[in-house]
Amino acid sequence: MDKKTIIKDFETHVSAGKAAFYKKYGMDFVMGKREGSWLYDIEGQKRLFNCHSNGGVFNLGHRHPEIIESLRSALDDLDIGNHHLMSQERAVLAKQLTDSMPSDLDVCIFSVGGGEAVDLALKIALGHTGRPKIISATGGYHGHTGLALSVGDAQYREPFGIGLTDMEQVPFNDIAALEAALDDHVAAVILETIPATLGMVMPEPGYLEQVSALCDKNGTLLIMDEVQSGLGRTGKLWAFDHAGITPDMVVIGKGLSGGIYPIAATIIREPLDAIFRSNPFIHISTFGGSELGCRVGQKVMHISTDEAFLQRVQAAGIKLREGLKTLRRKYPKFFTGIRQSGLMIGLELRDEYSGPALTKAAYDQDLLMIYANNDTSISQFLPPLTITDSEITLVMGKLDQAFNSARKIRTALVTKEKAGNFMKRFSGRDDGKA
Ligand SMILES: Cc1ncc(COP(=O)(O)O)c(C=O)c1O
Repeated sequence: MDKKTIIKDFETHVSAGKAAFYKKYGMDFVMGKREGSWLYDIEGQKRLFNCHSNGGVFNLGHRHPEIIESLRSALDDLDIGNHHLMSQERAVLAKQLTDSMPSDLDVCIFSVGGGEAVDLALKIALGHTGRPKIISATGGYHGHTGLALSVGDAQYREPFGIGLTDMEQVPFNDIAALEAALDDHVAAVILETIPATLGMVMPEPGYLEQVSALCDKNGTLLIMDEVQSGLGRTGKLWAFDHAGITPDMVVIGKGLSGGIYPIAATIIREPLDAIFRSNPFIHISTFGGSELGCRVGQKVMHISTDEAFLQRVQAAGIKLREGLKTLRRKYPKFFTGIRQSGLMIGLELRDEYSGPALTKAAYDQDLLMIYANNDTSISQFLPPLTITDSEITLVMGKLDQAFNSARKIRTALVTKEKAGNFMKRFSGRDDGKA
């Protein structure tokens, strides 16, 4: 099929809004071949280095050969499986995941995607505690499904009239605000260990430890959303490992798929399993924990738990930081700060126009970079964990060029804004009121 037809069909049958957005910004990329850190346009004339990894889906790059092989061999003898029956593949992956977590985080329930896994965690919290209220972080993001949507940013739920009546958002890193919000109505606090959509906000030293202690004191469950931060992204397997806390539930997704087969999971502490012991069929996900996905997940865990792999992530993080610091010195007005834990990185930019400007400028330099949707002054920088030293050098060179032109694009966006014609968000309105 020729590219023009694909774009036309996409526009008509998939998303007119996205097609219009990309057209406006001269980004007519259609995914074709993909390999390692690179995505190629379907007509092969352009390629993009993936500096976003789809929030961690492509932690191991695109089509990692061992992941492909795990799925290929699974197809020789497995299918999706049957959630009514017992399964070796689920048991093996569940054991790998729970063994990698502290204390009695011993039970693993599979889902298809992160939102579904968050929904389940919240459902368990409400059911187990008998309390009605959930606390989350202002500007946090946990997915677009039911309960997950309810505890997320208002901009995604209000247009649909959806919301848990009993929920409250408190600023991340504000322990006093959390303390004030906690009472005996609060079933759970849910936090991304590093809120990504909010702009890679790093937890301040001691914050997560205090959150955990306050939750314990209040009989409130602590749910850590590791959908983006987990599986080695920060140089430790789980980002909450840096704080040494034991959450009551952990949600994982994205990278567990190896970028090849959707799978997500909610890991819960053993006592929270009570409701499923008395009624094992009260929660069902037909495709959740597909046996094919479990085989892929097993391989992802095998690769990601390797100490040498995690050390390499740390080393790549240090090398990238050196490069970023140099660029910061070169563009001090535009590139104002670095938020970083391993390869979970946020680039602090001049203002809200700068994230979109850098996304466009980076695209022109063959880098796929996405700004944080809930703080467009931050550019998310999440390269594959497999990034090599020579790729880091290449990316830094391209980023240098991108910063150079992003400054001009920013000025143009400011002018457009004044004319009421600038769209900040990928998924918002195009009339300046996004
Ligand atoms: C931190 C976090 N939690 C949950 C989700 C939802 O995952 P999914 O899109 O697979 O439903 C996302 C997706 O971006 C996420 O970033």
